[in-house]
Amino acid sequence: MSLTLPARGVPHDEILDRLKDLREGDADWRDGRVFSLVYHASDEHGELVRRAHNLFFSENGLNPMAFKSLHRMEAEVVRMTASMLHGGPETVGTMTSGGTESILLAVKAARDRARHKNKKLTRPNIVVPETVHVAFDKAGHYFGCEVRFAKLDASMRVDVNDMAQLLDANTVLLVGSAPQYPHGVVDPIDRIAALARKHKIPCHVDACIGGFFLPWVERLGYPLPLWDFRVPGVTSISADVHKFGYAPKGASVLVYKDMDHLKHQFFVSTDWPGGIYASPTIAGTRPGGAIAGAWASMMAMGENGYLDHVDRAMKAAKRLAEGIEATGKLALVAKPDMCIVSFTTKADSKLDVFALADRLEDRDWLVDRQQSPNCVHCTVTSHHEARIDEYLEDLRSAIAYLETHPDHHARGNAAMYGMIAKIPFRGMVKQSVMDVMEKLYGPRAAEPGFDPMGQDDEGVVMRLVKSYGGRALAVLDRVDKLRERFTPGKKRRRAVT
Ligand SMILES: Cc1ncc(COP(=O)(O)O)c(C=O)c1O
Repeated sequence: MSLTLPARGVPHDEILDRLKDLREGDADWRDGRVFSLVYHASDEHGELVRRAHNLFFSENGLNPMAFKSLHRMEAEVVRMTASMLHGGPETVGTMTSGGTESILLAVKAARDRARHKNKKLTRPNIVVPETVHVAFDKAGHYFGCEVRFAKLDASMRVDVNDMAQLLDANTVLLVGSAPQYPHGVVDPIDRIAALARKHKIPCHVDACIGGFFLPWVERLGYPLPLWDFRVPGVTSISADVHKFGYAPKGASVLVYKDMDHLKHQFFVSTDWPGGIYASPTIAGTRPGGAIAGAWASMMAMGENGYLDHVDRAMKAAKRLAEGIEATGKLALVAKPDMCIVSFTTKADSKLDVFALADRLEDRDWLVDRQQSPNCVHCTVTSHHEARIDEYLEDLRSAIAYLETHPDHHARGNAAMYGMIAKIPFRGMVKQSVMDVMEKLYGPRAAEPGFDPMGQDDEGVVMRLVKSYGGRALAVLDRVDKLRERFTPGKKRRRAVT
């Protein structure tokens, strides 16, 4: 493969062939063996969205005067989302490139609004649940806000009393998730918002994954507490169209109660030699395709389309959860409010959940491993309904295998992930991950056969695994148990510095 720009342009057919070749090693989400990352409604829906995206492939949402079509579609996407989330006539918002950008902007707007009201505010902080999406850590890191993590109750929902303990005069935002990504439970938004109101602080609901799903869960009659703009005190909500809205990647919506909040998101520069510059979001150039694709997706789905997909995903998730519990060896980490199923091994089963994950990977499932507690996460969609039985079958045979191979957890990926989750020196883990990042984006990244986790320079964690394997894990297990015993319920998540 060429490592410099080709001297002469490559023929189009050849390029397309090469692209197909490049895809060979990718996770094949089409056959339903990938959970999260890809949200696929149907080939027909995908085709429509692709055509809509292509129609606005070159257009740029940066200048709403130049491309009035995009401005109109964005406004309609925002209005449709606001009504789905029970906003009022004053509800306003913008589209962004995804959940992370929506969250970054919600934090930035809250910080700037607080600074506007209190010029002396120098050390802003936000109070969030321990399970909140990591984009809030990123926001704190980017925008100079301390992130204070409130602990969880046994149901994995945030403990609102702990939030109350953590907030102070410098708190600019309280956050709850609907639902949180790791285990799919909705935080007690009514209590978080009431606390926010009491202290006159804005309250953001991160519904990036649930925003286009939970409204239909409620409509289908599943029990669900209120979490949207019907809850007094909720001031902003993020909802991703590129997840359960089935839009192309690059489409999220961030809606605020009113303009008094949204205006602090905007950026205006009056003195740039390039002219007066105003921008509503973080991006400068805003891809027209994502806006048109989102608009087309929502119009094509309509309420009946979303209801159908949510109904099917909820039933598939229920089948998966029941099959997991029926093994007798596994347990759900929490009882989810939507189609997210996270499970771990029961303590008395003596099975290691990451070893189980390795066995599933051997059967070509793409496995999402989580920590605190160690578990496997499945975001189930309607696309998975035909694969649930096979997944459960593979899970049962993985259990049977591990029962006859009890030392499996001390090897390979299981040992690496097991150690990473337990190493008390998080700076060491961070450095190892940084090393991998530097390789991934380093000068060798384009070399054929390049492997950032390769044998030649594998990093400190892999070296520990190789040298001490099961013994190192056993020591870390002991440290973990002692830590739990002497500091029960101690916070596990720390602010990014
Ligand atoms: C609850 C929640 N918030 C935020 C995000 C971040 O979204 P994105 O990956 O689009 O930036 C996710 C992604 O899964 C999520 O589940």
